[in-house]
Amino acid sequence: MSEVMKFDVEDGIGVITIDSPPVNALGVNTRRGIAEGLDKAWADKSVKAIVLICAGRTFFAGADISEFGKPPQPPSLPELLEYLETSPVPIVAAIHGTALGGGLETALHCHYRIATPSAKAGLPEVHLGLLPGAGGTQRLPRIIGVPAALEIITSGRHAPAKEALELGVFDALSEEGNLRGDAIAFARKIVAENAPLVRVRDRQDLVEEHRGNTKIFEDFRKKNARRFRGFNAPESIIKCIEAAANLPYEDGVKEERRLFTELHDGVQSQAQRYVFFAERQTSKIPDVPKDTPTRNVKSIGVIGAGTMGGGIAMNFLNTGAPVVLVEQTQEALDRGISVIRRNYENSAKRGRLTAEQVGQRMSLITPSTDYQDLGASDLIIEAVFETMEIKKDVFGKIDQIAKDGAILASNTSYLDLDEIAASTNRPEDVIGLHFFSPANVMPLLEIVRGKKTGKDLINTAMKLAKKIGKTPVLSRVCHGFIANRVMTVRGVQADAMILEGVSPEEIDRVIYEYGFAMGPFRMRDLVGLDVIGRGSNEKTVASELVARDRLGQKKNGGYYDYDENRNATLSPIAMDIIREVAADKGIKQAPNATEEDIVARLLYPVVNEGARILDEGVAIRGSDIDIACIKGYNWPVYRGGPMFWADTVGLDRIVSKLNGLAEAYGDAFAPSPFLVKLAKEGKRLSEVST
Ligand code: 3HC
Ligand code: NAI
Repeated sequence: MSEVMKFDVEDGIGVITIDSPPVNALGVNTRRGIAEGLDKAWADKSVKAIVLICAGRTFFAGADISEFGKPPQPPSLPELLEYLETSPVPIVAAIHGTALGGGLETALHCHYRIATPSAKAGLPEVHLGLLPGAGGTQRLPRIIGVPAALEIITSGRHAPAKEALELGVFDALSEEGNLRGDAIAFARKIVAENAPLVRVRDRQDLVEEHRGNTKIFEDFRKKNARRFRGFNAPESIIKCIEAAANLPYEDGVKEERRLFTELHDGVQSQAQRYVFFAERQTSKIPDVPKDTPTRNVKSIGVIGAGTMGGGIAMNFLNTGAPVVLVEQTQEALDRGISVIRRNYENSAKRGRLTAEQVGQRMSLITPSTDYQDLGASDLIIEAVFETMEIKKDVFGKIDQIAKDGAILASNTSYLDLDEIAASTNRPEDVIGLHFFSPANVMPLLEIVRGKKTGKDLINTAMKLAKKIGKTPVLSRVCHGFIANRVMTVRGVQADAMILEGVSPEEIDRVIYEYGFAMGPFRMRDLVGLDVIGRGSNEKTVASELVARDRLGQKKNGGYYDYDENRNATLSPIAMDIIREVAADKGIKQAPNATEEDIVARLLYPVVNEGARILDEGVAIRGSDIDIACIKGYNWPVYRGGPMFWADTVGLDRIVSKLNGLAEAYGDAFAPSPFLVKLAKEGKRLSEVST
């Protein structure tokens, strides 16, 4: 008897209820439960129609992702769904929450679909580097048409009930809160009307319309080339939908299965499935259990209305929280507020906010040049200049003003949080909340745990991160914390390589090909060379570019020159500077690096630094480092982040290459003893948990 399935009959309608928390994923027990329910319903001759419904928070959220890569257990989802479709009586899927992936495919094998007004439907497999593998690519185009199916399946987005109804995915909407009753009534009506057993596979009109049409697919590929770059899944999805247009259903399904298996076995999907779980792990802290108390955070104070302070404030304004924004001068304050307003107005122009919402958000700000106004804030986040003396001074002041129980946070990028905390009389109330620029956009929030930071602060910060739509990653104190620390070494090697004669353009190309949105030099030109080099007196290529008033895209170009359309060409001035700085430092130029050399030279040190971070206990898991790099630096998700990627390359290979680099370029490359140990023991960096 199935533990996850309940079957009962109400007025001639058999109701199969599945209850498999947390999200009714279609794991083996659920699949067997559904099959058992069908058998029961079919054996009962009084049952004239069937309702398939889920208990808990959602309809089936898809295949059980943790089963991928493991030996299959019968019945497979496609087998079960074929079985379901043989039903002699109509089956109505009753949908609440999210019908996703295999969940929506299940519904698309039922004869009818009714959903609550708050339900959503989608085929998000693309985010796992997969395609819908249980008929989704053949069925969705048959009911919503080829163009809409292309958009929905390649984006993986969740369509709200109203849209799903309009598209024809749902046949009816129930009253909110009365799904079971309305679904049974719907089933009775079908029986009374002797309505047909509608099988989606039999619908031909919408796919036939595009038979032999290659243009629609070519246009779609072209239009989305930038978005799909590097990913394998979108192209396979397009091929499946082409098959839906051109082949009989059975052959289309065979093509879908073939391409699904290819993606499933490929390294991209393995990486993206790993990322799915890794992302959900970061808020699980072994010594801070979920039931650790939290502090109430309703009102926010932000100190410093510069690049970061403004963006940080916006995160909270977006949730409806009031923010006191404090600056040292009225001028800086006015500038900061006007940037926030402009950002919101730009969102309004793009239709993402209404004018009223802009007004509401702006009205939640209390601008001030008086620290006393922070007295009532539950959380105060400091985002002033990156100088220890200034930070200490600011924390000394807020210690005098903040109310008891307030959380005092610093957005410092590199400084010692414990030293900052020691300038207060309440170090247990001090925490690092390290946002990434632009702070209102980038999804990473590093939560920095000082020696004395209270556990309740950590739990509060984890929950707060989710509330403002960020992924939290916990870090101990060290120079640069996790993401900046590991990524800095990439920049150091890029700088070294150009002095050795490799062109910035070649380095940028290789890093772009690896999957980053742009290489390090294009990135610096975009951010501004004056910002990058701030605080250092060393003569570098960047500092020389700044000295010649080449600040990047914003002024006169940087490593590149830019035309009016922002097309970049390598700058002869920059190349002269590179030769000059190299000559000054006595570095011989020998531009003979291969693509492989560049990847190894720039990215293996990142892996090595990650291993050190794990060894020191700065990050608690290898997968946390991956999430920090993906969410904070746009490390290509299909590589899984530096730790997962290193595992796919082979730690042995990385250690041996690092040893070679250490011989050629010095000890900075020497592999960390922890990395060497893992490689010897055949362990994986992405599975390290300290
Ligand atoms: N398989 C296995 N576990 C899953 C799962 C799935 N499909 N979906 C969610 N979970 C787990 C999560 O890992 C998490 O576990 P944890 O509590 O131990 O960390 C728990 O369920 C709750 O998940 P969330 O924290 O994500 O809960 P939310 O309420 O924030 O979101 C959700 C719910 C929208 C359903 C979200 O979990 C989600 O998007 N899930 C994945 C949906 C998906 O990708 N489906 C397609 C699967 S592939 C497929 O179906 C292939 C088919 O075509 C053959
Ligand atoms: P910024 O220079 O743009 O802004 C700093 C603001 O703080 C200025 O407007 C200044 O007037 C104000 N300020 C200085 N001292 C003050 C004081 N005593 N009281 C009130 N206001 C004061 O600097 P940015 O880039 O916003 O950096 C702020 C902090 O955020 C730094 O610690 C930096 O390391 C960190 N950070 C910066 C990132 C970036 O990409 N810019 C990314 C992540 C963190």
